[in-house]
Amino acid sequence: MKETLDPTDWEDFRALGRRMLDDLIEHMAGLREGPVWQPTSAQAKAALSRPVPWDPTPLASVYQDFLTHVLPFPTGNAHPRFFGWVMGNGTAEGMLADLLASGMNPHVGGYDQSATLVERQVLAWLREIMGYPADSGALLVSGGTMANLIGVMVARNSANPQIRDEGVLGGRRLRVYGSVETHSWIEKSADLLGLGRSAMRRVAVDERGRIDLRALASAVAADRAAGEQPLCVIGNAGTVDGGVIDDLWALADFCADQGLWFHVDGAFGAVLTFSRIHRERLRGLERSDSMAFDLHKWGYLQYELGCVLVRDQNKQRATFVTDASYLEPLGRGIQPDALEFSALGPQLSRGFRALRVWIALRHHGIDKIGRVIDGNVEQAQRLVERIVADPRLELLGPAPLNVVCFRYRPPACSDERRLKAINREILLQLQESGEAVPSSTQREGRFALRVAITNHRTRLSDIDRLADAVLKLGARIADQIS
Ligand SMILES: Cc1ncc(COP(=O)(O)O)c(C=O)c1O
Repeated sequence: MKETLDPTDWEDFRALGRRMLDDLIEHMAGLREGPVWQPTSAQAKAALSRPVPWDPTPLASVYQDFLTHVLPFPTGNAHPRFFGWVMGNGTAEGMLADLLASGMNPHVGGYDQSATLVERQVLAWLREIMGYPADSGALLVSGGTMANLIGVMVARNSANPQIRDEGVLGGRRLRVYGSVETHSWIEKSADLLGLGRSAMRRVAVDERGRIDLRALASAVAADRAAGEQPLCVIGNAGTVDGGVIDDLWALADFCADQGLWFHVDGAFGAVLTFSRIHRERLRGLERSDSMAFDLHKWGYLQYELGCVLVRDQNKQRATFVTDASYLEPLGRGIQPDALEFSALGPQLSRGFRALRVWIALRHHGIDKIGRVIDGNVEQAQRLVERIVADPRLELLGPAPLNVVCFRYRPPACSDERRLKAINREILLQLQESGEAVPSSTQREGRFALRVAITNHRTRLSDIDRLADAVLKLGARIADQIS
């Protein structure tokens, strides 16, 4: 008998599929009632270290293992009191969209097909929302790192077209500039792009955490004087540790004046364009040469989902287009034209991420998502107010948006080692009790509890609950740590 991988009994499969959907909807609807996070059990670890499965297992048993060993142990980012790193939560319709996309499973490199039209449609919306021209290059990618990497790669190849064929060896050293607060994707990208991690010039910030424009100008001038080639300036629309937005307008002026590529990392902050209240803060974003943002962070959608926009689509295409005789367009049929999306980024085969965006944006409408974003800013500011009003809490650095760094500080304690030990323990107990999940960072050498609110399920009461828990744990732990 010829085998396929389809179910042998579609009716059994349908019943199990319905159960899976019911279970997941129940899981999502009940998130608030459970712990934010719990450590993976020893049984789960054992169950997830089995030998290679050469022989079959009934799907129902595999699913049972998922229910027992996988579903209960996520990172917790879907929970309303998850505030760690910068993670999104996923939405209910996003979950269904993934099922639909996976059921179709198209290859979205291009081709004459509906999935390509869906991606073109969402990219057209996103371009318009971000203030980019209708003919700019745009692509959905796996996330912020990939989107940023593509932006800087187009910058590199546009300034030095010979690099594509000859590589980066020889010639003047290329330099990239951004504030000290720029996320570490830039070093990873500089390495991947052959510029070397030291190509990144980390420039000082002003008292509001924004790139210091005078320091930037000096750094560029010094590199020019040393015979190096300034390439690109990165503006931050939401720094990872402070949610600070650089003066994007001034950076656009500076880059225009200096003939430099202007790239904006808006991994989470660019979605402020959805907000009628906050979008003004991004003034100048629309003047950038390229920008990166995620919908899997403050766009609330499921992983993986980032987007890159490049003002001059031809430059993006020139960076990635390839020819291969087996991909030659035939003018008609399934592949009338060159594969449009594969020619704009590193991936040839691509999945149907766009469906998630298409469904979510249409279902909620941009204004509603914008209002939820406004709510997160309000929650962060409530936390700031509580910190500032309470002598036992100390705000660490500016917190103008949705990221708040702070610490518990027992009266008159200025011993940094003790403060770190206390706050580290507060953090771990918050996480391990399942009460709330902030993460940590260093602010000017001080250990900070870091709360990033990119969570559509969070309420103001969750913020109060977090602040109360920090105070309660802080008092207890401070007594134990001298
Ligand atoms: C400001 C900023 N840029 C870039 C990234 C990297 O994005 P991703 O994790 O989607 O690759 C992050 C991740 O937190 C970020 O906060």
